[in-house]
Formats: sequence, structure tokens, C-alpha cells
Amino acid sequence: MENIARLYNGQAWKDTDGHTIRAHGGWMLQQDGYYYWFGEDRTDGKKVSCYRSSDLSCWENRGAVLTLKSKVRPTYYRTSLEMYSPDQEDIGYGQGAVIERPKVLRNERTGKYVMWMHWENGRDYHDARCAVATCDTIDGDYVYHGSFNPIGYMSRDCTVFQDDDGSAYFISAARDNADLLVYRLSDDYLSIDEHVKTLWPGQYREAPAVMKRNGVYFLITSACTGWLPNQGTYAYADSLTGKWSQLLPFGDSTTYDSQPAFIMPLQVQGKTEYLYVGDRWDPSSYHDSTYVFLPLSFPMDKEMKVDWADHFTLNHFTDSIENTLHSGMHRIKSCGAERYLAVQQTAGEEAAVNGKMLSYLAEEQKWIVEQAEDDGYVLFKNVFDGRYLAASLSSDELPEGDGKVLLVQKGAHGCCCEWALKDADDEGKILIRNRMSGKVLSTRNRTGESLAHPSVHVEEAVEHDPRKGRDPQLFEILAVY
Ligand code: GAL
Repeated sequence: MENIARLYNGQAWKDTDGHTIRAHGGWMLQQDGYYYWFGEDRTDGKKVSCYRSSDLSCWENRGAVLTLKSKVRPTYYRTSLEMYSPDQEDIGYGQGAVIERPKVLRNERTGKYVMWMHWENGRDYHDARCAVATCDTIDGDYVYHGSFNPIGYMSRDCTVFQDDDGSAYFISAARDNADLLVYRLSDDYLSIDEHVKTLWPGQYREAPAVMKRNGVYFLITSACTGWLPNQGTYAYADSLTGKWSQLLPFGDSTTYDSQPAFIMPLQVQGKTEYLYVGDRWDPSSYHDSTYVFLPLSFPMDKEMKVDWADHFTLNHFTDSIENTLHSGMHRIKSCGAERYLAVQQTAGEEAAVNGKMLSYLAEEQKWIVEQAEDDGYVLFKNVFDGRYLAASLSSDELPEGDGKVLLVQKGAHGCCCEWALKDADDEGKILIRNRMSGKVLSTRNRTGESLAHPSVHVEEAVEHDPRKGRDPQLFEILAVY
């Protein structure tokens, strides 16, 4: 079927009513010519919403399939049916239990649609349970069957996988996210049969998603950094419960600003293709989070690749990603503070630079990296302010000969806006050294300084003792997608 709908990344997605699509940590099933997209909905007592589309671009809201008001029915094994305590406040992620990463499978034997998900009490992430709901139709009202700790284990980020023989698996992060456990489900998919494999023990993997291609299983995961994006990885195996490869890089150092939600197999012009779907969580504002859809490619049987695409069409899947360039802008991340350099407006001419929580919408956190006339140096132009990051050459303001960092017009007197970038390790972390003063950018903490917005200054480069935590003089320059 000719499908020319374009999928755009890095933008808010709306449904056919013009409302924001709420389907994070999601999942898709294909049925009767439609893709059904399930995901987290944290508005107005809703828990899981469902949308459908015939082209992956135009999405009709089919409504909330799991809510605080859903019917509740215990199953034959012991679960907790609690979803809501009436006195509970909305802590910003919606009222009642927090439901994350819902996944739905159709059980061929029973004809039921079975939803597995991550359950937390709505106040913290300490319960670490999974939960189950079922329905007779794909997008009807699901009946809630309660939450539990599988075989007593903690269970946070999760996914499911249905193999060719109909056996299904639930995979979730256990032991405070240190291990990823694989469980085989019972024949009706309603409970856990057996813990069949522990993957990468002690490696703190989250956001698992599994697919199978030509008999090879692939699993993608993220590292464990909350809502902040990190380097995704993939691994492969000949058997789900057998030996898995080591974790290999998937995408760039932020997985193009996304965290895996699921992988969707698609029929494209008679061929099976695989679509990566990730969440672009906004750590500053959950409800501004968006989605990233990218075609996967397989250069070899056991090699998986994902490239950035601003947009693509289904019928030109992997072979014609016309617009693979990122925006040309960057963010500068302080590795020590896990904050992003942002210009902060102050009264008068001066604009201070602080470390801020990542926000995809904040122009203040975006920088254009220009080459200086003298080879080897760069300038950072702030997208919001239009001025350049500079170190003040007078060191009066700060103690111990440190220097102030501010924004100036190019060539401003008494400042230097040229910087040298020096690789500091194999993971893309760099030292940013000021050309005139020779000092380096730092977010070293000062007494009384708010950790949420650490100030940025220049100081002498010092050898960092890793026993003291992360190095406040290390930064990453990350593309804005
Ligand atoms: C992420 C996880 C999300 C959500 C979030 C909460 O690491 O993948 O699903 O649980 O943490 O901080």
C-alpha cells in the first residue's frame, strides 16, 4: 500500500481532535488495518489511553481504556487492587496510582487482550510492582486485576514479548533497577510462570524493548538516569533465555534525546521493517514530553542501527531518510551537575549563565557552535539571547582567582569568547578552556549555592578525584534534534 504520510520528530503530536497525544511509555498492536497505540495518560484520573491510525501519522483518540474508575476484578492469584486513596493529592503526575509503560498482548487461546504495566503508589517509586488488566476487545474498557511483585521481586520499567509459538514473556527491572529479569507468562498471560533469565546483572538497565528478526532476538535498553536521556544500547541473542551479547551502542549519546518505549514490526511494501518508538521526556515538564519515531536498519544479521531523521515516510523507510540533519544547535551539559548551560536574564546589560534542568522548549539552553577565525577555537552563541559565552578577564568578583562567565557581544572588551575543546575521555566528555585566561568552565559547587541552578564559572583545571563524584569541569556538547 502506498503510504505517503510523513512522520515528524521533535514536535508535539496531536490527535485528530487537535489534542496532545498522551501515549507515553507506550505500545502498539496492529489489527484490522489499524495501528492501536496504548500509553500513559496522566490526566484527570486516566491511566492508559488508546489511539488508532491507519498510517501512523493521523491518530484518532479511542479514549482512556484504564482509569481510576475502571472495573476491578481479582484473579486467582493474590494481587493488591488498590489504585487510589481518596485523600491523595495530585503530585503532578496525576491522581492515584502511577501507571507506566503499559503493554498489551492478544492471547490466542482465550481471545483476551492482556495489559501488563508498571505500578507505583503515586507518592514514590518504592513499591515497584507490575499490574495486569484485560479486555475482550482491543480498545474497550479494560478490567483491572491488581498489582503485585512478580515472585516477590521489585519490578519497575517493563516490556512484554510474544514469541512465534505464542509463548509470552514479561521483562522488568528488579533489585532497584540493577537487574533486568525475564519471566515466562502463564498460558493465559495473566500471571508469571517462571523467572527464566537475569540479564546484565548489576548494570542498571531501564526501558527494555524486544524484537525478533530472522530468528535473532534484539533487546534495546537505556541507562538509568530518570527523565534525562542517555546512551541507548542493544544486544542480541539466538534464544531469549540463552546467552546474550554484551550491550552495544544504539543511537547517539542521548539516543537522539529519547528513551525506548517499544519496537513495532511493520509491513512496508511487502517487507517487514522495524520502527523504533521512544519517549522524549521533558524533565522540566512531563506534559511537554514528545515522541521520537525512527526506522531501524540492520547492516548485518546481528547488527542494529538507528539514525536520526527529522521526518520520514513509511514507503521510503530506511533507504530515503531525506532529512537526517539535526537543527545545527547544541546543548552544553555539565556532567558534574547534570544540568544544561542556560542564559539567565538579569537586570541591565549583563546576562549570567547557570546550569538548568533540561527543557526541550527552552531556547535559553540552545547554543550555536561557531568556529573562531583562529583554527582550533570555537564560540558559543546563545540562541535566545544572540550573544556569546565569555569569561570575564577581571577576576575580582569571585574568590580564589576564579572568573565570571557571562554573555557578551562578539569582541567585547575585557572578555574572551573563544574556547578550546579538549577530549577528556572516550565517552565524549570535554574540558572547555578559555583562550585568554587558560581557565576551564566549571560547575563546582560553592557554599550556599542552589544545586538546582549551579552557577557556571571558570577556574584552573584540576585533576579530578573520581571518589568525590562526578567531575564538575567536564561537559558534553550535544546536538539538538
Ligand atoms: C525513567 C523510566 C520512566 C519513569 C521515570 C521516572 O527512568 O524509564 O518510565 O519511571 O524514570 O523518573
